[in-house]
Parts: sequence; C-alpha cells; structure tokens
Amino acid sequence: MQRRPLPTTYRIKSFGCQMNVYDGERMGELLASQGLTPAAEGEDAELVVLNTCHIRERAAEKVYSDIGRLLKTDGPAPMIAVAGCVAQAEGEEIMARAPGVGIVVGPQAYHRLPDLIAQATQGVRATDTDMPADAKFAALPRRRRSAPSAFLTVQEGCDKFCTYCVVPYTRGAEISRPFADLLAEAQLLVEAGAREITLLGQNVNAWSGADKAGRVLGLDGLIRHLARVDGLERIRYTTSHPNDVTDGLIAAHADVPKLMPYLHLPVQSGSDRVLRAMNRSHTAEAYLRLLERFRAARPDIALSGDFIVGFPGETEAEFVETLQLVETAGYAHAFSFKYSPRPGTPAATMDAQVAPEMMDERLQRLQATIARGQLAFNQATVGRRCAVLVERRGKLPGQWLGKSPWLQSVWFDADATIGDLVMVDLAQAGPNSLEGRVLETLAA
Ligand code: 5AD
Ligand code: SF4
Repeated sequence: MQRRPLPTTYRIKSFGCQMNVYDGERMGELLASQGLTPAAEGEDAELVVLNTCHIRERAAEKVYSDIGRLLKTDGPAPMIAVAGCVAQAEGEEIMARAPGVGIVVGPQAYHRLPDLIAQATQGVRATDTDMPADAKFAALPRRRRSAPSAFLTVQEGCDKFCTYCVVPYTRGAEISRPFADLLAEAQLLVEAGAREITLLGQNVNAWSGADKAGRVLGLDGLIRHLARVDGLERIRYTTSHPNDVTDGLIAAHADVPKLMPYLHLPVQSGSDRVLRAMNRSHTAEAYLRLLERFRAARPDIALSGDFIVGFPGETEAEFVETLQLVETAGYAHAFSFKYSPRPGTPAATMDAQVAPEMMDERLQRLQATIARGQLAFNQATVGRRCAVLVERRGKLPGQWLGKSPWLQSVWFDADATIGDLVMVDLAQAGPNSLEGRVLETLAA
C-alpha cells in the first residue's frame, strides 16, 4: 500500500438488512463530521465503503467483484473500506485476497473509521473487527438530518443460534442500548425531521433497559415512552423473535395509538421437526397461538415473516406444512429464501442437503402462496380510511408515494410534500401497492 492524501469525498454502498442501512447512515454522518462530502451522483468517490451483508450465499464473491470493479478505473483508485458482516466474518481472507482493500471494519467497530482512514493514508492497511460492548454509539456524532421515516438501532446481536444463521457470529451477543440514549436519539431524529421511527434489532423484542428511577423496561416500555415524544407520530419495530414476545408488547398494540398495526415475526418453517433442527425452540402451533393473541389486541394487525425453504432434510410433506402455515397465519407480506449453507454454522454440515432444483421449485410455490395472501390482504383494506406518511414522488407528475399504517405502499394524486401525513380512502389494490383518494392533509 502506498501513502496517499486523506480522502475528501465518500460513497457508502449498503447491502442487506435495515440495520446495515442504519449503520450506513451513521458512517456517513461520521465521515461528514470529519469534513468529507458525499460524492455527487455519477462521480467517483475518493473513499468507497462497501457495507456488506453475509446472510446469504455468494456474499463474499459479490464483494470481491465490487472491489474489482472499483479498481478498474481510469483515474486514481479509491480508498476501499469493507464494512458490515462480511468484513467481520471474512476480514482476514479479504485482506489476503484483495490487496486493493485499505480498510476492513466490523459492524461494532465503525466508529473508529477516522483512525483507520488515517492509518490507510500512511500506507498501513487497517483492520478492526473488535466487538466492544456498546462503545460505538457514544463515539458517533449527533444526528442532524432525517427522512420522515427513520431507523433507530436499539438492540444488536443475537444469542439464539439458529443452526443456519451467521448473525450470532458476525454481530455478536445480544446487547441493548441504554434507554436514555435511545430517548435522546429519538428526540434528535424528530427535531431533524422524522415523523416515524422504526426501532431496529436482530431480536428487537429482546431489548431491555431501565428508566431514570431504575425500573426495568422491556421493548413495550420503550415504545410507551417514545409515544410521549411530541412530533413523533408513528412507531414500528423489527425484527421480533417469537420466544421474546411479552404480554406487555402485545398489550402495547391495543393501547398505544402511535404503535403501527404491523408485526414482523419470522417463523421460518411450518414443520416442528424442521423447527427443532433449526434450533428455533418454538413449535408452529405456539407461533399460531401468539398470532391469535396479537390479533385479539389489534385485529387489523398486518403480519409479516421470514421463511427458509430447503433446510437440510426438509421433505415434501414438511414443506407442505409450511404452505399450510402460511395459509392459516394469513400474511400481509413475507420474505422467503432458499436455504444457503453458511460456513461455520451447524446446519452447513448436516446430512441430506436439499437439491438446488428442489429448492427452486419449493421457493416458487411458497412465493405464489405468499403473493396470493398479500393481494388478499391489500384487497381487504380497500374502502378503509387511513393516514399515509408521504415519503417520495411517484413515477408520474403530481403523484406521491407513502406508507399506510399497515406498511403498504400507497400512491395518490394531490398536492403534497414529503413528510406530510395525508388522509386517504384506499380505493384500489394491486399485489404491491394501493391507490389512495385524498381527503385532507393532517397538520405537521
Ligand atoms: N439461508 C437462507 N436464509 C437465511 N436466513 C438467515 N440465514 C439464512 C441461511 N443460511 C434468513 C432467515 C432470516 C432472514 C433475515 O434471513 O429467514 O430470518
Ligand atoms: Fe439468526 Fe436466529 Fe438470531 Fe434471527 S434469531 S438473527 S435467524 S440466529
């Protein structure tokens, strides 16, 4: 590595989950606080951060090809930082295989980017994949700008060790950020323009903390406190684990109006044998009973989930149990994935890995079932009146796009501004969006 001047412009490319989107925003704020400016659209950046995701197959291959593309430039090569979960899991290999990479930084260490950049300018390749508990957030700059819908990471890491999943290894053990810090960050986000905050965590409902008086709080307590923040109109949270659902969280859906009627509660499979092999420690039946309790508290709650098809040993009959669970549970939306062996996880070495063609076929059937449910959910909301939080312009002039309380994309024709809450009647439903007819704009 050669010595080089400090970069003055940056670009951050975030892949994968919403927590990476949040981390990408915070890295951007950190770089801006050091005097760097974001590279203009279409222009080369002097520093490129690849904020990577390791959850599915060929994640690392994708990173290497992105690196190759970045280095194939007529101008000077950018300083390249690989961040995120691939950096955490495969940092050493990346340094060995990709000499053009100057920095490898894990998801718990990115607050140290300015030091790592300084080292890289001295020609020293820098790696930091330490996992200090919670040091990162205190070291990041204050938040000053926000879109109407903002993310707030409240919890990181996972202690569940599902047998297919890398997260416990890449993001580390479960930690909860302190209550007072979260309240302060939420307040700043609202002052900076947020009207909706989505609380993020790999197991967000495992969050726990204590208020000023030392009373222990769960996620529902945090939600109740946030609901008192003036100017914050909507609260969401994701992703939840069935085993960490509490009575309090279910009750919050009944009596906190700012808590949106939406629940992302992955089950992964409808077969108890597969769930056991996945180390999920809940049954399909227990999951369905939980849903009944959420629906008793909030009958219109929109349900979302995650599914894996083709887990090692999954039989046709077990897969059909997943299809049946999808029908019974009634999803408004769901993510579905083909199982992919992640090196170092127990499932990667299990017998009876399912053939790729069979996975493709099962994924198609599952996605068709989910799509039918999604359209049915959207159609069932036609005729309802609801507020839409305007997020951006639509494709056609005069058109705007935003989200309903049930997280559906709603478009409408009317005067509006990003950040408005607009009352609409839901008039027509497609599989992925609905048309709204505007009634009035609620005061900001
Ligand atoms: N293969 C396929 N899907 C996976 N997920 C996590 N690990 C794997 C894997 N090895 C899915 C799960 C999880 C979502 C974020 O990604 O469904 O809930
Ligand atoms: Fe991965 Fe399971 Fe933890 Fe979710 S609960 S992050 S799937 S180990």
